[in-house]
Amino acid sequence: MSIDIATEIELNDELILDPKAAAALFLEARTANAWSDEEISDETLQAVYALTKMGPTAMNIQPLRITWVRSGEARQRLVEHMNEGNKAKTLTAPMVAILSFTNEWHDLLTTTAPHMAGMVPTFEASVETRNAMGHSNAHLQIGYFILAARAAGLAVGPMTGMDAAGIDAEFNADTSRTTIMVVNLGKPAEDASRARLPRLSFETATETL
Ligand SMILES: Cc1cc2nc3c(=O)[nH]c(=O)nc-3n(C[C@H](O)[C@H](O)[C@H](O)COP(=O)(O)O)c2cc1C
Repeated sequence: MSIDIATEIELNDELILDPKAAAALFLEARTANAWSDEEISDETLQAVYALTKMGPTAMNIQPLRITWVRSGEARQRLVEHMNEGNKAKTLTAPMVAILSFTNEWHDLLTTTAPHMAGMVPTFEASVETRNAMGHSNAHLQIGYFILAARAAGLAVGPMTGMDAAGIDAEFNADTSRTTIMVVNLGKPAEDASRARLPRLSFETATETL
């Protein structure tokens, strides 16, 4: 198996993005594990969502729900449910987002996809379908969220090392939401990232038929 970080082609020749944008979104962006104390404004959070929401979802269902955890009190309640190695960075990140999916996305379908309104009774009848579509499409939206945060100048620390059921009991009780991931956001501290891990090469991860 071939593993690689570098790319064999002249990448910038192939992209319509400014090289700086490609670096900020993909090539130089790193997962952060330690944070400066620079705060994140509500406007920046709105910018992150403004980009996130434009990424495509099946039938435009948009099942991602975001709980911004800013206050110290809410932060303490969240950290209780994070794995040991994730506690300190979640406690000190300028902002933390609990990313969940709603399985009641069909309630908004007449607005988000009026042409699909006739399907609402079908979705009402199948919570399994709503869970499967909600989960997979919110995962897609989390990918958009990570890139949106980077576009807004933030470093990101996504985590699934947590007691998701505990987070649901604490933050999602009596709602239609289920936790998928917790993401720390902020400006990184010095040496905030681990050594870069290799990425799979084009030959390993793709085939052309
Ligand atoms: C879905 C997901 C879950 C992750 N869970 C954790 C976690 O619980 N704890 C942690 O320290 N890092 C976690 N990470 C961080 C990854 O290990 C890291 O993003 C990956 O190795 C790439 O690092 P890089 O962006 O610096 O290249 C997670 C990342 C993702 C995308």
